[in-house]
Formats: sequence, C-alpha cells, structure tokens
Amino acid sequence: MTDPASTPLKVAVLGAGSVGSQTVRQLLERHDELAARIGREFAVTGVLVRNLDAHRDSPIPAELLTTEAEPLIDGADIVIELIGGIEPARTYVERALRNGADVVTANKALLAESQVEIFEAGREGGAETWYEAAVAAAIPIIRPLQDSMIGDRINRVMGIVNGSTNYILDRMDVDGLGMQEALDEAIRLGYAEADPSADVEGWDAAAKATILAGLAFHTHVPREAVACEGITGITGELVQAAKASGQVVKLLAVCERLDADTPDEAVNVRVTPVLLPRTHPLAAVHGGMNAVFVDAMDAGSLMFYGAGAGGVETSSTVLADFVLAAKRIVRDAPPEFITFVDHLPIAPLDRVRSRYRIELQVGDEPGTLAAIAGKIAELGVSVRDVQQISAPQSGPATLVVSTHRAPERDLQQVVAELRTLDAVESVVGVIRVEGVE
Ligand code: NDP
Ligand code: HSE
Repeated sequence: MTDPASTPLKVAVLGAGSVGSQTVRQLLERHDELAARIGREFAVTGVLVRNLDAHRDSPIPAELLTTEAEPLIDGADIVIELIGGIEPARTYVERALRNGADVVTANKALLAESQVEIFEAGREGGAETWYEAAVAAAIPIIRPLQDSMIGDRINRVMGIVNGSTNYILDRMDVDGLGMQEALDEAIRLGYAEADPSADVEGWDAAAKATILAGLAFHTHVPREAVACEGITGITGELVQAAKASGQVVKLLAVCERLDADTPDEAVNVRVTPVLLPRTHPLAAVHGGMNAVFVDAMDAGSLMFYGAGAGGVETSSTVLADFVLAAKRIVRDAPPEFITFVDHLPIAPLDRVRSRYRIELQVGDEPGTLAAIAGKIAELGVSVRDVQQISAPQSGPATLVVSTHRAPERDLQQVVAELRTLDAVESVVGVIRVEGVE
C-alpha cells in the first residue's frame, strides 16, 4: 500500500490568464523550493482553460492544458481557482470543497456573492478555502484581519482596493489622460477584470469591501448592502479642478462601525469616489497600487500598502495560500472556517456623516448666493466654503459649495432641493470629501 505521506499532492489550476499563467509558471519553475517549504512533493496535474490555443502571458506546457473540468477537479488535493466570475467558478469551487480538496481562490466576486455557501461546502467536505489574493492582490490583508487582529476590535477599514481605477484616476491626474485611454492601459497591464465594468462601476471594490467588512466586524455583509458608486461620472475637468485646489480624486472603500457601544451600533460599508487633500497618505498611492487603513481599538491605526493588481504580483499571495493549504494537508490539521458571530445590523448610507463638494451652474445675478446659502442653512447643513468662478462674458457662473460634515440623508436632501431652485441652472456634480474635518 502507498504511504499517503510519500504521495505528491495533486494540484489543479483552473484558469491561465493574467494571474493563472504566472501562478502555473511559478509552481513549475520554483517547484523544489516550494515543495521544501511544504515538506511534501506536489505535482500540477492540469490547467483548465476555455481555449487551448489562446496566447498565454507565460507559456504553459501543452500537455497540462485541458478543457475538461470535472476529471481535473475530482482527482485534486488542492484546486487553485483563477477563472473569475460567478459561474462556472462557483460550481467548480463547491465541487472541489465537497470532494475534500482545499481551494485557493482570488475570486472576490464569487466570495462576495456566495461566501456563506462556499464555507458551508468546505464544512461538508472537511476542506478549507484560502483567499488572500481576493482583496488588494499582493497585500496581505485577509490574514491580518482574520488572524493577527482577531483579539482586537476593529472600528474602521478604509482604503483603495481596486488597482485599475486607481491607475485610471492617477493617469488622469498626473498625465491628463482621458478615462477610456487610461482604462485601455489598465487592461493591457492585466489589472482589469475580464469585464472592466466591474472595476469602473465600483463592483470589484464593493466585493472586496464585503469580504473585508465580514472579517473586520465578524458580521456577514451581503454584497447588496454595500452602497456602490464607481468612477464613470468622474470627468477630466473635475480631476483637474481638484488638482488646482490641492486635492485628488480616489475611489475609496469604507467599512465603518457606527455608534459603537450604543443600542444603535451597526456597520456601514460603501464604495464611492472622494476628494482627498494631496497631503493625505492615500493621495500618494499611485498607479495600480492599493493601500488599506485599519483602525482598531487597541492597535490604533495600521496601514497596508502594495501592488493591488497584476498577474505576477497576485501570484505571490496565491502561492502563499497554496503553500499554507498544502502544509495544512501535510499536518492533517483541521480546516478553519470563518464564522460571523457578531451579527451587527447593516446601516444604510443615510446614517453616515459625510462632507460634500457640490458644483452648480447658476445665474450670475444678485441674490443667487443668498438663495443657495439660505436653502442649505434651512436644511440644517453648514457650509464650509463657497467659490464662484464667473463666466468671462455675462452668462451662467460656476459655484462650488463645500459643506461641513452632516448626515448623508440631509446632504442628499440639500442636493435634491438645490435642483429645484430658480437660481440654480444645473447641479454639475457632487462628490464626497474625506481626510478633512
Ligand atoms: P483572466 O481573464 O486574465 O483569465 C481567466 C482565465 O480563466 C483564462 O485562462 C480563461 O481561459 C479561463 N476561463 C474563463 N472562463 C472559463 C471557463 N468557463 N472554463 C474554463 N476556463 C475559463 O483573469 P485574471 O487572471 O485577471 O483573474 C483571475 C481571477 O483573479 C479573477 O477572479 C480576478 O478577479 C482575480 N484577480 C485578478 C487580479 C489581476 O490583477 N488580474 C488581481 C487579483 C485578483 P482562456 O485563457 O482559454 O480564455
Ligand atoms: N481588477 C482588479 C483591480 C484586480 O483592478 O484591482 C485586482 O483585484
């Protein structure tokens, strides 16, 4: 009889795109080094793709490529899922876990939609799911929240968690590129999702925020509960106006504990573009980089920074998960499962306190400013700053109103009521402001 300890672990890789092809390359090229760290031999038994003849960023031996998912998954001890999207990834992941194979995945869309079911499939099969690469690519952020900070109480997780949109906004800011041109570059660099709408509409960041919030607050946050606004409404004019006033536009994910230690304690999770002062540490996050701040009761503020996208960079965390999964199997250690034990209510965006920058087109006439200021005051919101940019000839002027912090529901009412004022020709744009009190 074969001693299971002497049998190489069988590793199936699903997907050979930006991340998958780099992961397979490393599993093959660095086999001996990784096997030594694991303490057991392993063999890549196959790599699932759609098209056997597609170009690969890193070539894969033809004999490893297959389009047959089930036989590959069913024979594996570890399945590395790098296909992306919901189906067929969910079917494959759940099948692997029910078979008793550990799963390594970078698929935040799938986890955000189905993490409870995936953990359940793992419980049934006695197998663990590893997903460090699913949030902020190369940055270790899952294990710090899940393990290193498990004894603390986290109040806020805030950061830039999408590399493509950060790349786009940075190129618009630094080089004056248009959004489409910058997005095309992000796609060429392998940063973007297969459907880049997931990046620019904020869905990818929202999926990551769901995962982070679950770990930070020990509370399941359904993806639908995340307020999500992407960057499609951000214009080159806004980016340049922000630059001129010492600010920068960033897409932020915020997971926040509200009214801690009161009967109203709840969590809010949101993704929105914001203006940050250029002196803010997140303003210095350029290109495809990501950064996440964690504020905890005892640890204070921690900052995690690094590559937020890219095939090679992401393969680092995929390989880390692979080695840990393999070590667990070698040690015959019981799998661990996420449990959402705190069950905090999810608060709507209405309850959050924000600051708005509201850009209006107004008639350049006496009484306009007074009408606008009067309406905002009537709704109980305090104005921090008003700037008027008059047109060169007579005609509409641009008015930029910045508010102090106020409840979102009041700020949204301000915008709605300003739209109805005779003095206001149009509301050109509204964006939240962070990093200032
Ligand atoms: P790609 O689109 O580059 O690659 C996807 C791969 O999966 C391709 O090889 C494709 O095959 C294969 N595939 C897709 N659908 C099927 C299917 N139905 N059956 C079999 N194979 C299929 O994706 P990425 O490598 O960029 O991303 C993979 C995962 O990693 C995603 O979940 C993504 O969100 C995540 N991620 C990506 C990062 C990045 O920077 N790119 C960073 C962090 C996470 P074929 O090549 O034949 O078309
Ligand atoms: N499309 C994602 C991004 C990949 O741009 O951040 C990393 O998760």
